Formats: sequence, structure tokens, C-alpha cells
Amino acid sequence: MSEKIDKADDPETSDKTRAQYESFPYPARDAKDEDKRLVVGSPGNWDEVVHFVFGGRDPSAKNKKIRILVAGGGTGDGLVMLAQQARDRKVKAEIVYIDLSTASREIAEARIKRRGLEKNVSFVTGSFVDLAGEYGPFDYIDCCGVLHHLPDPDAGLKALADALKPKGGMGLMVYGELGRTGVYHMQEMMERLSAEAGGSKRLALGKALYDALPGTNWLRRNPFVGDHVHGGDAGFYDLLLHQQDRAYRVDEVFDFVEKAGLRLLQFIEPMRYDPTTYCSRHDVLEKAVHVPFRQRAALAELMAGNITKHTFYVTKAGNKVKPPMPDRDAVPFFVRVDGVSLARSVAKTGHIKITFTGLSVTRNLPPASPAILTRIDGKRTVGEIYDLFDPKPEKYEFDAQFAVMFAVLNAANLMYLHPAN
Ligand SMILES: C[S@@+](CC[C@H](N)C(=O)[O-])C[C@H]1O[C@@H](n2cnc3c(N)ncnc32)[C@H](O)[C@@H]1O
Repeated sequence: MSEKIDKADDPETSDKTRAQYESFPYPARDAKDEDKRLVVGSPGNWDEVVHFVFGGRDPSAKNKKIRILVAGGGTGDGLVMLAQQARDRKVKAEIVYIDLSTASREIAEARIKRRGLEKNVSFVTGSFVDLAGEYGPFDYIDCCGVLHHLPDPDAGLKALADALKPKGGMGLMVYGELGRTGVYHMQEMMERLSAEAGGSKRLALGKALYDALPGTNWLRRNPFVGDHVHGGDAGFYDLLLHQQDRAYRVDEVFDFVEKAGLRLLQFIEPMRYDPTTYCSRHDVLEKAVHVPFRQRAALAELMAGNITKHTFYVTKAGNKVKPPMPDRDAVPFFVRVDGVSLARSVAKTGHIKITFTGLSVTRNLPPASPAILTRIDGKRTVGEIYDLFDPKPEKYEFDAQFAVMFAVLNAANLMYLHPAN
């Protein structure tokens, strides 16, 4: 069922934001490319969602219908990924897409049609701030790269929170302030130059200004943002010329979430929000280890300097869901990585190297890791993997090595668990 509803004229919408995305639908996409590749990422990887938001228990299991909202779906990256995953998993999903921009919706619709996924997707043009409640309640809401463009992000997040089912959750992304150093300097320069409010004149001035900037300018010196170089006109505009755009530090993300009656479950990738990723000196981190998650994450953000966006999962504050534990009955599985290749490389080096936005981090893995990794098939429990060892290591030794290995791979978003039944 493909439903088309036009409700673009609500008073909450920001005219400038809508005008921008009518002229420059973001990100620039061509439906024909759906024949060649699927754009994937976070939030919205379903294994990740199930692990963090639903404690490892898929709400769409046993043929149960789930309802998903893609709020500010743009040209459809998150929508297409979620709809494709639902089909691949043969689950009953009803997906609602809402966006202000008709130009963006046309591209998203064309992509969905190209993949033959239109049966379970409804398209709505308008502001989700007004409409989310009307189309809810939802099990899962994706809102990626949108809330920081709202005139009132708090009201936007509250509207989404109110449209969630009690056990539902959301995958969100908002800009990170430190990694975007220089972006807001550019936006301020445009204001000081009294640039046209929108359209091609604004783009032309922005490009001329950017070309003129000296090598000492913070944007020129920032290697962590690249949309203005690689993202075409839509990318340039979205990154540097937006007029309704703010960024968040970790503490602000927590305040934002808590004010909406929500609880932050985890940032993606968790390793980036852990100070021990950047520093192993006990004397330096002595007072930073046994402090709440929020404080550790805020310190890690300052240490890293390269976090351009915060991607994270939330639930209602009262929902006490926890990710599954790596106990004997849990079933481990790989995400985004081939287990055999990983096992081979860990056998050779004893470690794993992970790269996050220009920073490579090396983590040693326990000696039993290659043997454990080769036995993970997404069906065996941790206990069954132990039983395959011959000779058998001490149980406590095996469990400890599995837990350390899992902690590293899970923090890098490479391994999750189906919980014990
Ligand atoms: C940067 S794009 C992100 C698109 C998509 N979520 C993604 O990650 O590729 C932001 C989108 O949010 C939409 N948007 C902004 N405010 C909105 C609102 N109040 N209601 C619905 N859509 C909105 C814009 O029209 C635009 O398409």
C-alpha cells in the first residue's frame, strides 16, 4: 500500500529548511543506483537495533507486525535500508516516511519502487513534529540528521517520544560540535556577508568564499568533514550553507534525550565514547574510569576531537531494557565483518585494528580468539562453541577470554548476541 498525503502547510515547519531540501534534496541519490548497491549504516542496522533497543529480542519475530517511522527521511537512505532489511528477513513491517520536502520524497519513492518495496511503505509530506502522533504508535523510529535542523529540536524529539510504543525505541543522529570545527565559522561568515537566504546565489557565494579561504582556516584544516568536497552541490549546501543547524556536545545530547523523557542506551560505535580507547595510562585516567557513562563519554569526545556526529539509540526513560549478556546460552553473531577473515587476521597478529574517522585503534584480543571466532556461526551458543574445543580449556578461562573478546568486538559494532531463552 503506497499512500500519498499532503500536509506541508502546518505552522511548525521551517520555510527555509523546506526550501533548501526542495532545491537540494539530501543526500543526492539516483534511483537507478539501487540496482547496484544498498546504502547501509547506523542508525537502522536491524541487528544493532535489536541488540541495543530490544535487548536482543526481535519484536518482529514470530510473524509479529512492527510499525516503523522514518522521520525526516530525505532521499531515502534509512527508509530503503529498513524496508530492504524487513523484506530480507521476511517480517511484517509497516513503514511510514515523513518529510517536509516533496522533491526528496519523489527520490525516496523512486528508490523504493525500483526495489519493489512499495507494498509496506506509506509516504507523507509534512512535519513529523505535527504528524508523528497521528500515524503512531511505532515500535521503532529512525530520525537521522534531522533534529538539529528543527527550529525547536526539543519539541521535535518530544513529538517522536510521544509517538513511541511503551517498549519501542529510536535510532537518532545529531551533529557533533567538536568534529565539525570550522563548519559554523563558514555559516557565520555567510551571515556576515549578508548572503542570499537560499538557492543558487547562496551556493555560488559559498563556493567562492570557500575557495578563497586560506590554509589556516579551521574548516580547511578539518579533515573530518568532507561533504562539501565529495557530496556535490547538495552536500556543500547541507554542510556549509544551512541556516537552521546546530551541533551537540555529549552532555547536551544527554540533556536533550532526558528532557524528552527518554534514556540513552548507547552511542555508535561505543568504543569512540570510551576514554580508554584513546589513553591506556592508569595515572591519567584514574579518576575517569569509575564515573557514570555520561562523564566518560563527554571526556572521550574531548579526547578524540573527530566526532562529527552522534549516532545513538534511546528508549522511554522507564524502559529498563539491557543488551544481552555474553553468557553460556547466548548466541554470538558477526555484523559488518566476515568471521573467517577476522579469525585469520587475529591468528596472525593477535589484535584487531579499527579505524574511526581518521583514527586507527589497535586492540589486543585474548589467545583463544581465533579458535572462538572460527566456530561462531550465528546458531551455536557460547556453551556449544566451548564444547567444540578439544582439548577443552578451563571453563572459567574460556568464559573470561570470550567476554574480553566480545567486549572489544561489540564496542566496535562488529559482534552482537541473541540472548539466552
Ligand atoms: C539532512 S536530511 C537527512 C535525510 C535522511 N534522514 C538521511 O539521513 O539521509 C534532513 C531531512 O529532514 C527533513 N526535515 C527537516 N525538518 C523536518 C520536519 N519538521 N518534518 C519532516 N521532515 C523534516 C528535510 O526536508 C530533509 O529531507
